Amino acid sequence: MSVSVEAPLAERIAAYATEVVRPLAPVMARGGERHARRLIAEAARRGLAGLLTPATYGGQEAGHVAFAQAVEAVARECASSAVIYDVHVSVASEPFAMLGDEEQKRRYLPRLASGEWLGAFALSEPGSGSDAASLRTRAVRDGDDYVLDGTKMWITNGGEADLYLVLARTGGPGARGISAFLVEAAWPGVRPSRPLRKLGLRGSSTAELVLESVRVPVANRIGPEGTGFRLAMAGLDSGRIGISAQATGIAQGALDAAVEQLRGLGADLPEPGLLDEAAAARLPAAAARLADMAVQVAAARAVTMHAAALADAGGPFTRDAAIAKLVSTDICVAVAHAAVEICAPASDADAHPAAVRLRDAKACQIYEGTNQIQRVVIARELLRA
Ligand code: CAA
Repeated sequence: MSVSVEAPLAERIAAYATEVVRPLAPVMARGGERHARRLIAEAARRGLAGLLTPATYGGQEAGHVAFAQAVEAVARECASSAVIYDVHVSVASEPFAMLGDEEQKRRYLPRLASGEWLGAFALSEPGSGSDAASLRTRAVRDGDDYVLDGTKMWITNGGEADLYLVLARTGGPGARGISAFLVEAAWPGVRPSRPLRKLGLRGSSTAELVLESVRVPVANRIGPEGTGFRLAMAGLDSGRIGISAQATGIAQGALDAAVEQLRGLGADLPEPGLLDEAAAARLPAAAARLADMAVQVAAARAVTMHAAALADAGGPFTRDAAIAKLVSTDICVAVAHAAVEICAPASDADAHPAAVRLRDAKACQIYEGTNQIQRVVIARELLRA
């Protein structure tokens, strides 16, 4: 490790991104190999795996701005690594760091923050993605346990994680019938499928998770029965800042690829000091597009950091996290698309950094709430009495 755990956060983030994530990026883009545990263990060695976890439980308690900076830096190098890291630090850890009881926090948070364990978040199901409150996985009380049965879908880190934060139905239909549980992967009946194939993010595993008569101690229910949906939504508010940061990082990575391409071509720009109207008119179209891309990346970063700062200030940030996710993921796809056009990857199209960014970008508009769902969240927040 070239940077000590005592070094300033920005240095630790930069070292992690360049020394650990960058060399793995081509491997992750090909897919097939699994490096999530190593990525999280290395993040932990640099004091980065518990940025949203209180120091009492082994975390860094560094806040959402720091978290967003870390996710962006990782995503700039490799989006697959970023989603592995993002889910581990935010939705798999933060909800029970906020709302779990002392025993749950003492038992599990230090393992996640130290990188000993990898975390995952299991909300979606084959029949309920956007309409999360219609989930069907059941948790039936039996003495000191609940028995969980059902199928979870599209679980990031699924199949590799040691701990799943699972949402299951303990009561009637709708959001108030849902409770949250901490489920260890090693328990009998927890059966992840092999990773699902995806357009991009090929280095991150996404799995189906079958829960078959899984006995979960009552002590592993987070909060009272019926409060799981609110916990999931609060976790996703914060998670969406992470996805917004991931999108910003992917867009920055795509911009980097386009800049490198145009530098390599020795693009014909007006001489400095000659920026009169005629000179500006000679700005090559590709270079002008590059400037627009840089503006878009800056806008994505600004909305992300605004939401992160609101979260750190302790005020409401549901609306701003949804705005950030919507704006920066749309920007991410647009910038990645422009980078592909500028770089025009040909023979090595599949592995070209711009092509990888474009494939990876799309998922950001979908997971942790599609951008249509972000519009629902934003509109509801605006119209709330
Ligand atoms: N914070 C806290 N509580 C919240 C909340 C929030 N942001 N949003 C809603 N709630 C509460 C409400 O106050 C309400 O509580 P009460 O019952 O006590 O009144 C309850 O939750 C139900 O709220 P709604 O009536 O608004 O619920 P809804 O059924 O209309 O759905 C929704 C709202 C926003 C559409 C929600 O279903 C949603 O966000 N869907 C998208 C799901 C999603 O993002 N999935 C991501 C999967 S995880 C993932 O992708 C991770 C990964 O692997 C990368």
